[in-house]
Amino acid sequence: MKVSTGLLTLSAVLASSNASPTPAKRDNPQGVDISAYQGTVDFDSLVANGLSFVYIKATEGTTYVDENFSDYYEGATNAGLIRGGYHFAHPSSSSGATQANYFLANGGGWSGDGITLPGALDIEYNPSGDECYGLSASQMVSWVQDFSDTYYSNTGVYPVIYTTTDWWTTCTGNSAAFASTNPLWIARYSSSIGTLPAGWGYTTFWQYADSGANPGDQDEFNGSLQGLKNLALG
Ligand SMILES: *[C@@H]1O[C@H](CO)[C@@H](O)[C@H](O)[C@H]1NC(C)=O
Ligand SMILES: *[C@@H]1O[C@H](CO)[C@@H](O)[C@H](O)[C@H]1NC(C)=O
Repeated sequence: MKVSTGLLTLSAVLASSNASPTPAKRDNPQGVDISAYQGTVDFDSLVANGLSFVYIKATEGTTYVDENFSDYYEGATNAGLIRGGYHFAHPSSSSGATQANYFLANGGGWSGDGITLPGALDIEYNPSGDECYGLSASQMVSWVQDFSDTYYSNTGVYPVIYTTTDWWTTCTGNSAAFASTNPLWIARYSSSIGTLPAGWGYTTFWQYADSGANPGDQDEFNGSLQGLKNLALG
């Protein structure tokens, strides 16, 4: 995903080449995740291309609201896409609760209306410095717990956790603390998803490429369209 600085992306970290491998089978519901970096997005064409869902960047830390969030969210809604917001975590700048509340106040809210995906916590490489933001593994787990609990107490659903197995292993000590509560969304640009973080037996979303036929990062839901709708019902 793109951070507001635009200086570094997951793709820069993960991809050793600019290839966007296309996994063999893509029968599951397809989607994208986008931020203002994508500029003008034609949501009707996403539907025409067969996409079912979109995650839209809402916030970062407690100082940044994506300038396109509202327009994108409205556009996605009008086009009939299932959609949700995501928050780019800055775990060194304020508590998990503070950032969850900022996210909730700026687009990350949820209700069981059948078209809103649980908000996603995008937690990954620090775009500017120490990849674990100066937190120990136990401090990082506590930060994520604080964010997750705050989100849950406000909405009744646990946030999706977007990460990479590599970052999660490095910066949380491969914690299994969220596996039974939080849906997982793994970024891995390869033809197979590889090893998942500890505890999770499967992933809910897979970001399999950072570019493709549609704008933004390319994602799929691991399940049926009804399963995707069920996630939006809570
Ligand atoms: C999104 O932001 C870009 C600038 O990043 C702007 O050019 C574009 O018009 C915006 N699109 C919408 C739908 O707001
Ligand atoms: C998708 O979910 C199923 C269980 O519903 C699981 O068996 C499978 O391994 C999952 N795929 C991935 C890539 O996690």
